[in-house]
This record gives sequence, structure tokens and C-alpha cells, in this order.
Amino acid sequence: MFSLNDDRAARGLLGLSFSFHRMASSSSSAPAASYDVPWVEKYRPSKVADIVGNEEAVSRLQVIARDGNMPHLILSGPPGIGKTTSILALAHELLGPNYKEAVLELNASDDRGIDVVRNKIKMFAQMKVTLPLGRHKIVILDEADSMTSGAQQALRRTMEIYSNSTRFALACNTSSKIIEPIQSRCALVRFSRLSDQEILSRLMVVVQAEKVPYVPEGLEAIIFTADGDMRQALNNLQATFSGFRFVNQENVFKVCDQPHPLHVKNIVRNVLEGKFDDSCFGLKQLYDLGYSPTDIITTLFRIIKNYDMAEYVKLEFMKETGFAHMRICDGVGSFLQLCGLLAKLSLARETAKAV
Ligand SMILES: Nc1ncnc2c1ncn2[C@@H]1O[C@H](COP(=O)(O)OP(=O)(O)O)[C@@H](O)[C@H]1O
Ligand SMILES: [Mg+2]
Repeated sequence: MFSLNDDRAARGLLGLSFSFHRMASSSSSAPAASYDVPWVEKYRPSKVADIVGNEEAVSRLQVIARDGNMPHLILSGPPGIGKTTSILALAHELLGPNYKEAVLELNASDDRGIDVVRNKIKMFAQMKVTLPLGRHKIVILDEADSMTSGAQQALRRTMEIYSNSTRFALACNTSSKIIEPIQSRCALVRFSRLSDQEILSRLMVVVQAEKVPYVPEGLEAIIFTADGDMRQALNNLQATFSGFRFVNQENVFKVCDQPHPLHVKNIVRNVLEGKFDDSCFGLKQLYDLGYSPTDIITTLFRIIKNYDMAEYVKLEFMKETGFAHMRICDGVGSFLQLCGLLAKLSLARETAKAV
């Protein structure tokens, strides 16, 4: 339905602008992909200093890595931005060769009910390990927000009693799911989504190490679909490379299976030009392709955010899209809902014209 053969014409399509250090490299001598290790693992930074973005949080962790005496920590933020990586790197830097015996790592796939907290964690905390001065044993609780509040309650006393020998590092998506008493015992480090430029800089490292043939628009598309999530960006890069051996816009959107931004952009353009029927037709096409209303509305929102239009209109559009998104999340994700949104956007545009 939509083919993007002319990459040049599509450049800047997503409203992102970058300066690329190395332009299109379509070397035919790309090596066969190594299927054994996912790139997210292969290129997981092993030092705190190598973590991209979130400078403030990372520099706090660097100070801890240098001086030792790690406080209890909670790292919170959306997925795929380096929380687990930071904790692991910090633990490695603090404990070096003692890592194996002095770190207890538990994530959501391990059983972390009350019994585990009472037995396994407590036993680990009681265990004697000889460490250099200013270093402590570390219990890593990844995805701690999935622990039941009962288990968290059981943890609070353990955290206190053994704090002279054992420190806790928790990672979670929303810090509010950690019970208050634990929050007050911990230093909170917030991570936020990575900027497009930060993701690009890491992608370039991987692209060059793996000799991936690409055009800049392909990377731009990966960054657009990842929306600040480094894990997703690397996974999409690898999926596109192993599927097509070449990273351009068309291949990326085939792999990621999101509504094509160019198509969504056309819908918005039609609304702005007063062609309501055409915009509805474009929407129907997307709907018939089987994209869920949530997919459509999140892409629509990002397109509107990057679209070059009058500020007043843009704000109105974002407001209406936000309301529609809310209603879709409430369960009313019909085609009518989306059409109604287009109608509201058209009205907003009419009002703006009249003012
Ligand atoms: N800030 C970052 N700098 C470099 N690589 C990152 C960063 N964030 C995530 N990654 C990559 O994404 C993968 C997953 O990151 P992870 O730390 O597990 O995310 P989460 O925040 O969900 O715990 C890592 O293996 C790494 O390759
Ligand atoms: Mg994680």
C-alpha cells in the first residue's frame, strides 16, 4: 500500500533531524549476523561510565562506584533505558572479583514471595564475606514493583538489621509501587527516556561494530519506533538486519509492524487541508490492515507532536488526541471513536481559522 522507494524524499519525514557522522554505507561485504547473542546483551555496557544519557543519575552512580559505601538504592523509570545495566555495572565496579559471592540477584522471574525474603535474602544477609573496607554485599531486586506488598513488608526489617553488611538495590518502573517504608530507607535515582540523539549515538556504535549496511532514514525510523527505549531500538535494528540485511525505512516499518508514519502523516495533512473524507478513508485503510486503535493513536500523537503546524492548532490536536487515547484505554476502541477524533480535529482547525 505504501512503498518508500525514494528514501531521499522521505528524509526528515518523522520530524527528527540529526547530523550523521558517517553517511550511507551499503557495503556488500557485511558479515553474516551472529545469531548466538542478542545485540542488547552483546552491547550491554559493563561500566557505569559507558551508560548513555541520564547524566545526573549516572554521575551519582559513578560517585558511589568510586567511593564505595553504597546506600540502599531505588532506580525507577520506563523500560529499556539502562536501570538493570546500571545496577549490574555498579555492583561489578564495587565488588570486582568478589561479585560472585557478594551479590544476590533476584528478578521478576524468580520467586520473591514472603518465604524467599524471610529465608533466602535473610540467609544471604547473615552470611560472612570478607570485603575491602567500605564495600558491602549487595542484594539486587530487579523489577521490584512486581513484588507483593507482603513480601516488601517482610523486607523492611531485614534491610535495617543487616544494613551494616548488606545493601539493597531495587529497580522498578514506577516507584509508587514500592511501599513507603522501603522508599524512605532508600536513595531514589530517577531515569527518564533517552533522547533521540542519545539512542542514535549508541546505534552508531553497534552499526559500526556489526558492519550493518544502512541509510540514515533507516536509523531515523528505528529511533522513531523505539520512542526513547534503547532495548527496543537495538532489538529492532537486529531484527531488521537479520530479516533484510539492509536498514532502510521500508524494512524497519515492515519489521516493527507499526502504522506507517507517512500514512498517518497523510491523515493529519488531510485534516489540516479540510479534506475530512480523505482523512477518514486513510484511517479506514489503517484500521482494515488490523492495527489496533492504541497503535494508531500513539503513532498519531507522535506525528502531531512533530508536525509543523500553528502552535495553537497543535495544542488543540494534542489535547483531543489525549482525550481519545484515554477513552480507548477505558475500552472504547472502536472505529467510530477514531473517526470522532478526526471530526474533532477538523473542528479545532475550523475554529483556529475563524480566530
Ligand atoms: N542508557 C543506556 N546506554 C547504553 N545501552 C543501553 C542503555 N539503556 C539500555 N541499553 C541497552 O538496552 C538493554 C536493556 O537495558 P536494561 O538496563 O536491561 O533496561 P531496563 O531499564 O529496562 O532495566 C541493555 O542490555 C543495553 O544493551
Ligand atoms: Mg530491567
